[in-house]
Amino acid sequence: MSTATAAPAKPPTRGHYVALICANTPICHEHYRLTLQVPDFPASEPGQFVQLLCAPSLDPDPAVSGERYNPTQISKQAEFEWPIIGRPLKFHDEYLLANRPYLRRPFSIAQRRDLPASDTAPAIAEIDIIHRVIGKGTRELESLEPGESISLLGPLGRGFALPQTLTHAVLVGGGVGIPPMLYLAEKLAHQNIASVAFVGAQRRNLLPLALQANSQPSPVGTPNLCCTEFARCNIAAAITTDDGSLGMRGFVTAALDLYLAAAAPTARAGTVVFCCGPTPMMKATAGVAQRHHVPCMVSLEQPMACGMGTCQSCVIKYKPAGAADWVYKLTCTDGPVFNASDIIW
Ligand SMILES: Cc1cc2nc3c(=O)[nH]c(=O)nc-3n(C[C@H](O)[C@H](O)[C@H](O)COP(=O)(O)OP(=O)(O)OC[C@H]3O[C@@H](n4cnc5c(N)ncnc54)[C@H](O)[C@@H]3O)c2cc1C
Ligand code: FES
Repeated sequence: MSTATAAPAKPPTRGHYVALICANTPICHEHYRLTLQVPDFPASEPGQFVQLLCAPSLDPDPAVSGERYNPTQISKQAEFEWPIIGRPLKFHDEYLLANRPYLRRPFSIAQRRDLPASDTAPAIAEIDIIHRVIGKGTRELESLEPGESISLLGPLGRGFALPQTLTHAVLVGGGVGIPPMLYLAEKLAHQNIASVAFVGAQRRNLLPLALQANSQPSPVGTPNLCCTEFARCNIAAAITTDDGSLGMRGFVTAALDLYLAAAAPTARAGTVVFCCGPTPMMKATAGVAQRHHVPCMVSLEQPMACGMGTCQSCVIKYKPAGAADWVYKLTCTDGPVFNASDIIW
């Protein structure tokens, strides 16, 4: 008789989930905070993302397909013949003709709260996504109501790794790159790592953050406890807007440059810049960090299709120090977080 015991099953690191929408609240012009409850969601790290199916799916399970688009009901349109197909429309034809956002869309995890399992219910991860309405998929997200469900894949990609030598974190977020910085801020606060944040938006009403009543953002980019989400983690923040409608006028990299220039070289030891935002902003941030001899990690937001290493749509050119030549890397599975100096921008 064998005495071998089966190895315990490894917990999944990612999966397909039906998430319940708890809230979808406007937070500023074009931005919404979407709060999702996901049962038994695996552990996740700041910098990781989820793929949301913004259009209701063809899954016959109504929990996945959503009540708004029931595949068992074919509309009256299906009764006529579509000449190209030469037969009555079926549900799948209708679905494709509807010109919906068929591919999933990637969104960073902006915050996570874990509710423990009880005798009657599994553990629930409450996940916040902050999304800006810019196209077909995000317009569908905008219309989601509490009580509806959405299909979610995740957590995906590699998040921010905190180096052992890290004593001072400088968070830099621009536009829809701000959400992963909120999740990172919470982790850093939890680990008692001193941090400061720099956030940039085009203008005041495109900043997806709340302002403290008792502290105004500095007009010269000096970080203070002006921003509720960071103040909650005891992190001072500097806000910049392109048009000067809030905080310092100009790009977030200008405020970062002033800050790093003012820091004594000894204070820069143990400092790491963590950045997410539009590509030109991340490239400029990497340049500022390099000039001040501070390491920089960036979370890239390349447009993606599959999000899990299959379609090859998200490649970047990568050349780490010492490598003879560059290679392609996939943003979705090798990243989205990379060492900024390893990227050919
Ligand atoms: C890893 C990752 C994390 C992301 N996190 C967030 C987030 O937290 N919040 C958020 O609002 N958005 C985030 N994005 C961007 C988000 O995925 C896109 O805004 C979304 O896919 C747009 O879908 P749509 O159907 O509304 O727009 P579409 O109709 O697909 O596109 C509208 C326009 O936006 C452009 N566009 C679409 N995606 C991108 C992109 N990634 N970069 C530059 N231009 C783009 C298109 O070329 C087009 O011009 C993230 C992207 C990645 C790769
Ligand atoms: S998004 Fe498909 S391979 Fe990266």
